[in-house]
Amino acid sequence: MQLPLKLERRSNQTLQSQLFEQIRGLILSGKLKPGTPMPATRSLSEQLGVSRNTVLLAYDRLIAEDYLQTQEAVGTYVNSHLPMDSLVLKAPTQPLVLPEKPQARRHPVLFRGRAQKVANSQRNRLAMDFRVGRLDPHSFPVKTWRRLILRHLSAGGSNLTEYRDPAGILALREAIANHLGPARGIAVTPEQVIVVSGSQQALNIVARLLVGQGTRVVTECPCYQGAAYVFESYGAQLHPVPVDKYGLQVSKLPPTPVSLAYVTPSHQYPMGSTLSLKRRVQLLDWAGQVGAYLIEDDYDSDFRHNGSPLTALAGLDPYGCVIYMGTVSKSIGAGLRLGYVVVPGELVEPAKTVKALLDSGNPWLDQAVLADLISSGSYAKHLRQIRRMYLRRRDCLIAALKSHFGEVTLSGLEGGMHVVWHLPPNFPTAAEIQAIAQEVGVGIYTLESGGAYDYGYKEYSERTLVLGYSSLPELQIREGIARVATALTNTLGHSKQYHPDSPNAGQSKGRPSPKSKVLSN
Ligand SMILES: Cc1ncc(COP(=O)(O)O)c(C=O)c1O
Repeated sequence: MQLPLKLERRSNQTLQSQLFEQIRGLILSGKLKPGTPMPATRSLSEQLGVSRNTVLLAYDRLIAEDYLQTQEAVGTYVNSHLPMDSLVLKAPTQPLVLPEKPQARRHPVLFRGRAQKVANSQRNRLAMDFRVGRLDPHSFPVKTWRRLILRHLSAGGSNLTEYRDPAGILALREAIANHLGPARGIAVTPEQVIVVSGSQQALNIVARLLVGQGTRVVTECPCYQGAAYVFESYGAQLHPVPVDKYGLQVSKLPPTPVSLAYVTPSHQYPMGSTLSLKRRVQLLDWAGQVGAYLIEDDYDSDFRHNGSPLTALAGLDPYGCVIYMGTVSKSIGAGLRLGYVVVPGELVEPAKTVKALLDSGNPWLDQAVLADLISSGSYAKHLRQIRRMYLRRRDCLIAALKSHFGEVTLSGLEGGMHVVWHLPPNFPTAAEIQAIAQEVGVGIYTLESGGAYDYGYKEYSERTLVLGYSSLPELQIREGIARVATALTNTLGHSKQYHPDSPNAGQSKGRPSPKSKVLSN
């Protein structure tokens, strides 16, 4: 580590005391944090071009005044027990006096945009979190990942020190191409596959290629915030098309030219419907007619609970217009930040160039491990295991909701990792229920706080909750829903209002009785 120190040889202050003051300043300003190892005296003396003795004396004084600590065989480091709060406050706060110089107005920040909140700030306050799309930490294949990491690390050689193809290592691109054939019915070459840091980066790459100020982009309504916000940040003119229980309402697509449409056909985000085969074909024909590219975000298609998965749009595409996105965020873990995008031939080179401009490629080690995991069959085995687990958890959640709230109206059950609960008219709004649940340590979410964008169409958001079941063991699912039911009853003071057996159900506040059912879409 090289510290930002600058000694002034012509100063009246000795070099040693300048060094002392500057290191102390770095500690007090929080730039050197407690516990940070200090550079060895020899290397610091070389960096500064002063004698080692000067550094030794400065360190001695810092140690004597408790700013630094030294430990045999470990070295010298910033005292881990410094009372930083009070010290920083006590540090001289002399304002920096700069000579007055004429200064031109700085360039404005050109970027305009907003981002979806991926990290859940409430997480530690919640005993049971039904956050959508989250994995059970225990499901991460730690043993296999560790074994593969160690194997590739020891044989990594120059792979660890050199740059590689920004589009991703060939072994992984081949493994993904081979996986997509049987799993999703898509025939692709490894050259078309670009490894990315999650779907979010894929969206940025595509937007950089195709979206500029005023570009018309169709999205589902409601849709995934992460996608809408990316297009918006590139200046897109967004065109929402509503979804129903069969997915995107293809008949409502605009007949005029559109550059791009973003869809989630396997399990519409957030409403959970599966786009029917008929609509898939119609959507492709529409794209062919208006000259649009289609982004197929297949984020959680690995989890199909009823029947077989429908072939992906990319596997049915006669126009070569589908850009297919996949991620391991839902199958292994979002912390890995790994995904891929499969692009039509003419986009391969431009997409690779954008990827290179963004980050020169993903870390080699993670790619090598994932390639091995997929091609060895461990990935398929892992998917089978968690699919079974999610199915049990989904069923447990449905049963818990029914046992506390009667014949609830649910959708999105056929696949994925969350269910959508359509609230009956006699229930409080989704936001009210979310707040009541949070008070008792349970996270259940409105569409917006669950990461969806409704374009202001409140009929979706006010009476719909999304509940992810993938990260919670069955015991916690049952306990969480029981707590919400009790809290609703207590808070609203109508103990019988929400119970299915209640003769009052649906009668309070003048609201009509709910006609509850489970929608199978
Ligand atoms: C619709 C949709 N697409 C993609 C993702 C995954 O994004 P990433 O791969 O960037 O983690 C999510 C995650 O919540 C999602 O809901």
